[in-house]
Amino acid sequence: MKIVITGANGQLGKCIRDISNHYPEYNFLFLGRKELDIVNKEAIRVLFDKEEFDYCVNTAAYTNVEKAESEKEKAFLVNGDGVKNLAKQCKKNNTTLIQISTDYVFDGKKRAPYTEKDPTNPVNVYGASKLEGEKALQEILKKHYIIRTSWLYSQYGQNFYNTILRFVNEGKSITVTTEQTGTPTNANDLAEVILNIIASDSKKYGIYNYSNEGEATWYDFAKEILTQTGQLTQTNLVKTDYYRTFAQRPVFSVLNTEKFTEVFGFLLPSWEKSLKKIIP
Ligand SMILES: NC(=O)c1ccc[n+]([C@@H]2O[C@H](COP(=O)([O-])OP(=O)(O)OC[C@H]3O[C@@H](n4cnc5c(N)ncnc54)[C@H](OP(=O)(O)O)[C@@H]3O)[C@@H](O)[C@H]2O)c1
Repeated sequence: MKIVITGANGQLGKCIRDISNHYPEYNFLFLGRKELDIVNKEAIRVLFDKEEFDYCVNTAAYTNVEKAESEKEKAFLVNGDGVKNLAKQCKKNNTTLIQISTDYVFDGKKRAPYTEKDPTNPVNVYGASKLEGEKALQEILKKHYIIRTSWLYSQYGQNFYNTILRFVNEGKSITVTTEQTGTPTNANDLAEVILNIIASDSKKYGIYNYSNEGEATWYDFAKEILTQTGQLTQTNLVKTDYYRTFAQRPVFSVLNTEKFTEVFGFLLPSWEKSLKKIIP
């Protein structure tokens, strides 16, 4: 089995790389943006002409939710056209494409966990660009999995977990909002899930929600990070119910993961338990 991972230097790409040695029977090719820009159709064609892949896992994305508001074209180029390019090439080469998407395709008005069938209505540019990628993939390629996930964090990169720890290590107090509710998801768990889906070779294509179990506000998440790392003090975490940002975010974006559990039979760990896994 040959598997190509795009966006391999991002946090999810790195988490997949970390566990790839658990699958010695698979031949992995990890490509960062420099090795393969998914916006570049010709580069994709050259790669797929050279090598046959059974699976392509696209972890490449424009992920800066704030900046996307002023860089709409860039966000759509990567998250929309980039996915379209991969889907077209995968179709030609009979490759299955695993695309990662987001809870931000929803507007948050439902106030109950979103199922895969709920109508989408992104409230920011990032969400709209990711939705465009989803739609293109569904139109072009039957052999696909779209995994919608939420609030990804890991030991790698500039995510919420690392940002909170950095601020506290610099002796700063942090103000965190209770405005949004979602589910923090350990990217290491998602990496495992992706490789398990490949290993199952179930061919049960389609959209799946996958997150850790439970729900939290960003404030709850920050508090749990500081508690679990033994760094919560009386003064270093401040709660607010309003935090000004450029991009609007859905106030409630918990994903209903029943379909995923039923089809793939994996138990989802609670977000608090999953957080423990990366605390040194
Ligand atoms: N982070 C979250 O909270 C979250 C939540 C839900 C869903 N997701 C989705 O989960 C997936 C993985 O996200 P992540 O957190 O691992 O993101 P990440 O850490 O930002 O990694 C994304 C990677 O994609 C690369 N990239 C950007 N444009 C590219 C292009 N044109 N061609 C090839 N590579 C390109 C980036 O390279 P540069 O660094 O050079 O730009 C980066 O290494 C994404 O699809 C994201 O939309 C993320």
